[in-house]
Amino acid sequence: MEVVVSTAKGLTIKLRNFRQSDIRRVMEIEAESFLDGDAILYLELYDEWPEGFLVAENGGTVIGFVVLVLTPEGDGRVFAIAVDSRYIGRGVGRTLLKAAFNTLRKRKIGFVRLEVRVGNQVAQRLYRSMGFMEIGYIPFYYMDGEGAIMMRKVM
Ligand SMILES: CC(C)(COP(=O)(O)OP(=O)(O)OC[C@H]1O[C@@H](n2cnc3c(N)ncnc32)[C@H](O)[C@@H]1OP(=O)(O)O)[C@@H](O)C(=O)NCCC(=O)NCCS
Repeated sequence: MEVVVSTAKGLTIKLRNFRQSDIRRVMEIEAESFLDGDAILYLELYDEWPEGFLVAENGGTVIGFVVLVLTPEGDGRVFAIAVDSRYIGRGVGRTLLKAAFNTLRKRKIGFVRLEVRVGNQVAQRLYRSMGFMEIGYIPFYYMDGEGAIMMRKVM
């Protein structure tokens, strides 16, 4: 997959599948976004389902990514999404999610779920606006002790 699109906020980005050479840039973005992952885990998830790992590029540089995995029940799960802090609020996150959901639809996957930090209002607002509903709460889900809201969307 490789496509050039304009976000709803007028930023031109290229969406394409992750390549192993992107890992350094992806880890830079994930570190500044305070996510809990590590490079080995991301590369394993890529090996398991390469189509689920997309990046957004601007001017030849990776500025955001989304990682979807397949759950044992056969649903999709948003494992991680993050955008370079200099590009936040310019439509990159929404565009990445839409592209990832198209991948799920092609596979005829019925549901997608995710966990999000209780305090992450920006991400929660984005997910709600894309049709996610709150389905549960997991206390102490993150390594720093913060709880997670579970959300699910019908594809
Ligand atoms: C969550 C994240 C991926 C969203 O990506 P983004 O490119 O900034 O999002 P978009 O520009 O597509 O905006 C989508 C929605 O997010 C919300 N949003 C984005 N920036 C915002 C800001 N500065 N303040 C408040 N809401 C904001 C809005 O609801 C926006 O909706 P709109 O398109 O109707 O304006 C990004 O903020 C990020 O990387 N955050 C850090 C990592 C993270 O929290 N990941 C999610 C873990 S579950």
